[in-house]
Amino acid sequence: MLEHGGRLRRAAVEYGIPLAEWLDLSTGINPNGWPVPTLPPLVWQRLPEDDDGLSEAACAYYGARHALAVAGSQAAIQALPLLRAPCRVGVVAPGYAEHAHAWAKAGHEVVDIPAGAGLHPQGARRIRKAAEAATTPLPAIAALDRGQARSYDVLVLIHPNNPTGQTYAPATLLAWHERLAARGGWLVIDEAFMDATPEFSLAAHAHLPGLIVLRSLGKFFGLAGARVGFVLAEAALLERLHDLLGPWALNGPARHIATLTLRDTAWQDAARPKLIAAAARLADVLAHHGLPPSGGSALFQRVETPRANEIHAALARRGILTRLFEHPASLRFGLPGTASEWARLDAALAKISP
Ligand SMILES: Cc1ncc(COP(=O)(O)O)c(C=O)c1O
Repeated sequence: MLEHGGRLRRAAVEYGIPLAEWLDLSTGINPNGWPVPTLPPLVWQRLPEDDDGLSEAACAYYGARHALAVAGSQAAIQALPLLRAPCRVGVVAPGYAEHAHAWAKAGHEVVDIPAGAGLHPQGARRIRKAAEAATTPLPAIAALDRGQARSYDVLVLIHPNNPTGQTYAPATLLAWHERLAARGGWLVIDEAFMDATPEFSLAAHAHLPGLIVLRSLGKFFGLAGARVGFVLAEAALLERLHDLLGPWALNGPARHIATLTLRDTAWQDAARPKLIAAAARLADVLAHHGLPPSGGSALFQRVETPRANEIHAALARRGILTRLFEHPASLRFGLPGTASEWARLDAALAKISP
């Protein structure tokens, strides 16, 4: 099993600090997520049904033609590699490591494509402008632009990338997709962190053969525990995936909650600017303490520093959990949720500033 953020119980034991006293910044989950209402008893009692309106709600929210609900985008990450004969797969690294892991486990040849720094190094302030900035490609991706996409059968990108924050111009992605699809290849785009910046999404194009977009309700909606994700792709591929995953892949209560949250446009419209402002604030707090982020998204900021290990431990001793990456040495900070959490982070960083 790979390492992930959110291992609060382990940190509580390791640092001897009770669970309830932690500020968990180790994930990119919205700390002020969608407020889940009381559920009607029937959603617990009845078997889930595919025609309950969830797919329609997802299509409307994502602007996609077809959507398959899965038990977290992780379920799709594990299943997609099983739908192809062994082939050559390019995966951006560093990135959410489950992609490379799943393709390799299914017998494919996996090639790392080095990710560049985020294209909005000042943090989220520039997120809105990043559509133009994103025309600056990564060196390795620039090589793809020169025609090397032919050397991959599948290209897997995380957009925006976790943890680097890398973004891509949608037109560039569509050009890569066209090149891959022309020879039966796939472009898989993991848009788990896309919801605050929908203008970057390729969801509206996902019905094109060879384009597969993954979405998650875990991050923007703050519903990681409900385990809800979606695959947006052409109908024939979704049918194959549905067959592979079997019936009732997503439980009834999760389907109910997901349908409500996807229809709640008022909450979504209010959450987007709030998250973008919070990410800019986080970038400012970190920079103020000598830790300017090298990139990020609306839900996290990443700091590359040779002191990553030491800072991670110093914050953990103060009950603040961050996500530590060894290669390259870096820390990812999620968003504090309340005024006292912001103050706590600020005070802790002040104590550990060099
Ligand atoms: C980039 C990315 N994609 C997908 C996932 C999996 O999300 P979920 O299975 O909760 O939808 C994660 C989880 O951290 C992630 O960071």
